[in-house]
Amino acid sequence: MTVLVIGTGGREHALARALSRDPGVAAVHAAPGNPGIAAVATLHDVDPLDGAAVAGLAESVGADLVVVGPEAPLVAGVADAVAARGIAVFGPSREAARLEGSKAFAKEVMAAAGVPTARARSCRTAAEVAAALDELGAPYVVKDDGLAAGKGVVVTDDRQTALDHAAGCDVVLVEEYLDGPEVSLFAITDGTTVRPLQPAQDFKRIFDADQGPNTGGMGAYTPLPWAPDDLVDEVLRTVLQPTVDELRRRGTPFAGLLYAGLALTSRGTRVVEFNARFGDPETQPLLALLDSPLSPLLLGAATGTLADVPEPRWRPGAAVAVVVASAGYPESSSRGDVITGTDAAEALEGVHVIHAGTALDGDDLVTAGGRVLAVVAVGDSVADARAAAYDGVAAISFDGAQHRTDIAAGR
Ligand code: AMP
Ligand code: GLY
Repeated sequence: MTVLVIGTGGREHALARALSRDPGVAAVHAAPGNPGIAAVATLHDVDPLDGAAVAGLAESVGADLVVVGPEAPLVAGVADAVAARGIAVFGPSREAARLEGSKAFAKEVMAAAGVPTARARSCRTAAEVAAALDELGAPYVVKDDGLAAGKGVVVTDDRQTALDHAAGCDVVLVEEYLDGPEVSLFAITDGTTVRPLQPAQDFKRIFDADQGPNTGGMGAYTPLPWAPDDLVDEVLRTVLQPTVDELRRRGTPFAGLLYAGLALTSRGTRVVEFNARFGDPETQPLLALLDSPLSPLLLGAATGTLADVPEPRWRPGAAVAVVVASAGYPESSSRGDVITGTDAAEALEGVHVIHAGTALDGDDLVTAGGRVLAVVAVGDSVADARAAAYDGVAAISFDGAQHRTDIAAGR
């Protein structure tokens, strides 16, 4: 089988790497890709948001399956454009991707499906925002309704900060604050059958001890030794299956990766958000531990035959990913800083490097984005994998590099 991966980040590198190791996959193509993806796939220079161009590339490389990595092309209808040419595509339609593209839509689906989530008010005016802040109380949670790469949310005790954030957005959601640890639970689905993956945890804030602004994610690990044993079954029953069933009932079935961001609160499990694609960086440690081949799951989801595909199998042990970001992230990013030490990191036992915002400048690997790369390590335990990942991080350097020192700590 020939697979085309659309996207350019760490998630797409992890997907392309797993597919390149899959015995059922003869060729992996990617567009636009990055220097890390170039080591495991043939790159093509195509705008990932241009559905006609992506579909044309899929035809020209003879793709049997197109995997759309990021949310923006999904929300723009790229999966629809590929499917219209009769090519199997992993990733939801534009309509179903609204589950991520509009937080208000996601709330409406959850209400209809009886899925537990934070109470919320959708607001368009400053007066509505003020009333909602007073109704729901501190800590205040204010979310930009549209796509914001994980950076559109402010959680604060300061009412003025909450009002200021809302003033910068068109439509905002004011939410009840959810306490308790967060868990990312991904499920592969064809719109009917739902196959959950292992739970993972992401670290969203830029600084240690969850300080500073939200980012796209600074590190992740899986599995979660502290999570309740019945968590996956409970979330499948109360969140994932009802949501998939509700979208099918509406005539806009969701096929692809359903990402449930959950809070395990003192009052039970609640959905913080849905995403319509693999999470980044959680995908990096998850795919490092996936023992069964990836392509049958993705193809089964794309073709409505997931019920015939065996459940995913996992390697024992754990995997940890530590993101290294460039100077200025998350407010800005720095390009062109020369990166050294990735080979030394990969020479370590159980360690590999996943590229996100990297580029080549002559023979030099340089920074080209906010999240530059992730060092991923597997080990017998979370502690072992964590130690190996940080050995890898220590081998890598570039001007202004920043990483958290507490990813998967204390677990
Ligand atoms: P979202 O874009 O909805 O995933 O929000 C990004 C991050 O903001 C989440 O991962 C949480 O850390 C935090 N967050 C979002 N909603 C809430 C909430 N209702 N209560 C507490 N924290 C939240
Ligand atoms: N890791 C968070 C996200 O992918 O949205």
